[in-house]
Amino acid sequence: MENEWGPTSWQTKPVAQQPSYGDAAELDAALKTLSSLPPIVTSWEIERLKEKLSRAGRGEAFILQGGDCCEQFEDCNSETIVRKLKVLLQMSLVLVYGSKREVIRIGRIGGQFAKPRSADMETRDGVSLHSYRGDLINRVPFTPEARRPDPQRLLRGYERAALTVNFIRALSEGGFADLHHPENWDLEFVRRMPRSEKYDELLSSLGEAIRFLEAIVQVSTPSLERVDFYTSHEGLHLHYEQSQTRTVPRRNAWYNLSTHMPWIGNRTRSLEGAHIEYFRGIRNPIGVKVGGDVDVQEIAEMARVLNPEKEEGRLTLIHRFGADKIGDQLADTIAAVQRTGTPVVWSCDPMHGNTEVTNNGWKTRSFDKILSELRDSFTIHRDCGSRLGGVHLELTGENVTECIGGSGEVTESDLPIAYKSNVDPRLNYEQAMEIAFLISTEMTK
Ligand code: PEP
Ligand code: CO
Repeated sequence: MENEWGPTSWQTKPVAQQPSYGDAAELDAALKTLSSLPPIVTSWEIERLKEKLSRAGRGEAFILQGGDCCEQFEDCNSETIVRKLKVLLQMSLVLVYGSKREVIRIGRIGGQFAKPRSADMETRDGVSLHSYRGDLINRVPFTPEARRPDPQRLLRGYERAALTVNFIRALSEGGFADLHHPENWDLEFVRRMPRSEKYDELLSSLGEAIRFLEAIVQVSTPSLERVDFYTSHEGLHLHYEQSQTRTVPRRNAWYNLSTHMPWIGNRTRSLEGAHIEYFRGIRNPIGVKVGGDVDVQEIAEMARVLNPEKEEGRLTLIHRFGADKIGDQLADTIAAVQRTGTPVVWSCDPMHGNTEVTNNGWKTRSFDKILSELRDSFTIHRDCGSRLGGVHLELTGENVTECIGGSGEVTESDLPIAYKSNVDPRLNYEQAMEIAFLISTEMTK
């Protein structure tokens, strides 16, 4: 582990969850082009996010990280991007208002295109093809052409990531994101419902507060006219990540410039594996998903390896145990990391430990279990003298029926009505807002 690090040193380690490309020369050519393209984000933005995350670790800010399980290339359009941004902005407003704390908005967006799968191959009616691994690698239809891992898709994905981030940056800079005009963030399909009334109330008192403040200080507050918005994705496809790993002038360090905050998935966090090796050498703030039956010593060692300089904001551990297991696992995990003296930011992903399959084969999640895991997270952190610094959610600004429950009472038989995800079930708008209100209540405790 202590060997010299370089952007390619991961290649000497066992690597999980990579596609098998048929033609190495074709892959090399695509990677060569990729590494010649300009970066999507800058080291200044990355360092600014790390500084904010250090505040989340100290309880001065809270992370709202969310978006699709897996972005689709066809979702790279103005309407879909705007909807995702709207729901995250609305949720962040609820959180800021309730908690009186800064909220750090991080999308699972602008590059969340690669997925880990439980098997390399999928077999239907005696035919075996590559599993769908996300649009960065192949396509969903069960045909040999669509499922072939195609290196050109790395370039198409990078371009879409850049288009998405470009649009988000422009929207965040003013006009659309102006807090004086939160009506810009309304979603047209939202009916009168208990949550939307509560949200409208919040908006009107917020508007009053802003007008009051501006009247008192006799100036308008330009900082309210823009928001910070950061991007993240699972750093799964290591050739892709490597090709965007650069040094920048006057900083003696390597950055992954494809996103602000890449994270390591739960399936690729093996201490001896290639993902830990790659991530230990980049200077971005990074996340690691932590779930299943964890070996707490291994998690503690991982914290040491990924954050040897004990830098605040560097490492976010995103636990995703599931509502039924968090009670057994989280406290010991926290204690083991505390003993290392390594600062980490804790975030709760209440989605990935609560996935279930219905009798009819729909992959879903129960809203009650999601809430229960969130509530328990807050309590367990408090009891351990730790604090929950954020949440990590799969959600969408669409009116989908993928998770069961919530005040809109999505039932099992409603799932087929608007089930759009190709991978994991997401919270719809109403469910997402309900979660935001719950978190803001928990944070005021
Ligand atoms: C995900 O975030 O979509 C995911 C695959 O999560 P995990 O690594 O926690 O299973
Ligand atoms: Co997922």
